[in-house]
Amino acid sequence: MNREQVTDMYEMYAQKIGNRKQVYETIASTFDVKRALYPGSHVDIAPSLVVPHVIYVDSFKGTIRFFKYLEKVQELIDERKEYDEPCTIEFFGQDYMQPLDIEPVDLIISQYAGFVGQATKDYLKPGGILLCNDSHGDATLARFDEGFELIAVMGNANELVQAGLDEYFQLPKGKDVDIAEVKKTMKGPRYTKQVENYVFQKKIKWK
Ligand SMILES: C[S@@+](CC[C@H](N)C(=O)[O-])C[C@H]1O[C@@H](n2cnc3c(N)ncnc32)[C@H](O)[C@@H]1O
Repeated sequence: MNREQVTDMYEMYAQKIGNRKQVYETIASTFDVKRALYPGSHVDIAPSLVVPHVIYVDSFKGTIRFFKYLEKVQELIDERKEYDEPCTIEFFGQDYMQPLDIEPVDLIISQYAGFVGQATKDYLKPGGILLCNDSHGDATLARFDEGFELIAVMGNANELVQAGLDEYFQLPKGKDVDIAEVKKTMKGPRYTKQVENYVFQKKIKWK
């Protein structure tokens, strides 16, 4: 792929999924994120526009092909990035369930790619942030994981909302969430109040 093809592929994908740069920017600026891990990223490289060092992991062959042209991807980000530091992009074309030879990160991004938070939480620094949605139930697993605390949700204008967090992850009629069912179906339950993205913090100490 040449530079134009890399740009086209990213832009077409960004158009399809909607521009998430602002979501990533809110998280990066609020929590001073310098290193992020994005398992199951496909070609959503928008985090690199606002985070200086991002590690992408994806086993899909189309993604592996895209990142084979890492220099071109890097050029594209260098042109568009919104921070002064040099940009570092790493890519692992592998199953994110397998061990990754990386240093701890400030942020893990989980978007429509399975139980990313659960599989990779050991790479998150204590106090680090897990940004995730509940498409596959990853946010639900984090909500009921004693190692994480729900500290915010993303509002409609991509702002952090910290009020009323107890209202999320509630089922109609006060029913209990069946975690085994979520793990089996890989689908987030339909809650009485839900948002697109949830923000969890890895507890420094628990138990
Ligand atoms: C539906 S796409 C979502 C891509 C991107 N996160 C987004 O929100 O647009 C899911 C991606 O996760 C990748 N994926 C799913 N499970 C994976 C695993 N266990 N290891 C590596 N990649 C995985 C797939 O290859 C695919 O590229």
